[in-house]
Amino acid sequence: MASEKPLVAVTCTAPVNIAVIKYWGKRDEELVLPINSSLSVTLHQDQLKTTTTAAISKDFSEDRIWLNGREEDMGQPRLQACLREIRRLARKRRNAGDGDLVPLNLNYRVHVASVNNFPTAAGLASSAAGYACLAYTLAQVYGVEGNLSEVARRGSGSACRSLYGGFVEWQMGEQTDGKDSIARQVAPEVHWPQLRVLVLVVSAEKKLTGSTVGMQTSVETSALLKFRAESVVPARMREMARCIQERDFHGFAQLTMKDSNQFHATCLDTFPPISYLNDISRRIIQLVHHFNAHYGQTKVAYTFDAGPNAVIFTLDDTVAEFVAAVRHSFPPAANGDKFLKGLQVTPAPLSDELKAALAWEPIPGGVQYIIVTQVGPGPQVLNDPNAHLLGSDGLPKGAA
Ligand code: DP6
Repeated sequence: MASEKPLVAVTCTAPVNIAVIKYWGKRDEELVLPINSSLSVTLHQDQLKTTTTAAISKDFSEDRIWLNGREEDMGQPRLQACLREIRRLARKRRNAGDGDLVPLNLNYRVHVASVNNFPTAAGLASSAAGYACLAYTLAQVYGVEGNLSEVARRGSGSACRSLYGGFVEWQMGEQTDGKDSIARQVAPEVHWPQLRVLVLVVSAEKKLTGSTVGMQTSVETSALLKFRAESVVPARMREMARCIQERDFHGFAQLTMKDSNQFHATCLDTFPPISYLNDISRRIIQLVHHFNAHYGQTKVAYTFDAGPNAVIFTLDDTVAEFVAAVRHSFPPAANGDKFLKGLQVTPAPLSDELKAALAWEPIPGGVQYIIVTQVGPGPQVLNDPNAHLLGSDGLPKGAA
């Protein structure tokens, strides 16, 4: 029986997601219930993922967690909320008569170790992948099944969207207990094989205003945010779902850019104002609009979260040329060969006409590097015991 084993460990991976209809603002801080629904694209784990091991043993005396090799405080309210939720669901399951499926004594302490395959300092949304992975892995180890939105959400709102692959919506729900505030897949990862995602890493600096505090201030002070949540987002959710279903890139791209811009407008409408974009971000916005105008067609779209890095959507036949346009506008300062990471891109020359259309002063080193990726699957369980980040002693492997 599983409970007689000295230690039970499970290792899982979870993806990063990027919202094309943005979540910004909570109606309930405690339960992490949003003021509007949101919709995101799950990025491929070959390029961006979190890996988490959770282990349970009767020999552990306390809950502990290591992030990227460093022990962190398990007392953090968000971590505590996730753990409490999982244990509550496991208890509920056992009481409902599924006891055999809840393998271990729920009082056993848990050790968790988590790493990202991308630099946390790159300013990419690591908390979504991190909390989705935590929720998913804890669920495996405690034998909890079903929709884990309410667990992941307690860590970070956007994390519930990383529980699924492909295209995912987080329905805001109406209930005060949050039971109907859940993420669900709109279309699977294989739905739109031509879609490509480019992460333009602009700055590795830590952001000035975290999303949690930023959105609190926006909810308190921005009339534009209230208008957006009530009068703009509902129709946009329907339109975005349609664009995805029909693989309408023009519609998808236009709406993605407009929603990113409106989100950043609500940040500026917040008092005191918040600005996440910098001069390089704004130059990327211009570059995309010039690129599209040159072709008389929407071939590329940008979106920005709570930081200056751009996430670009385009189709496979446009990647090489857009990368050439980025290189032209932001010549790599050094390490030119490390400028592109991820999926292979066959170099393409930039036409003289396009060069002429991008006739501004290049900014060397403005974009540090580009991660080329695509739409990907949801969380996975790794069955190889060598994948565990914790050793049989329950401590991170390789730790002294
Ligand atoms: C701009 O999910 O990080 O990325 O729920 O407070 O943890 P908390 O916020 P978080 O906010 C993400 C905001 C965003 C837009 C989005 O991902 O939808």
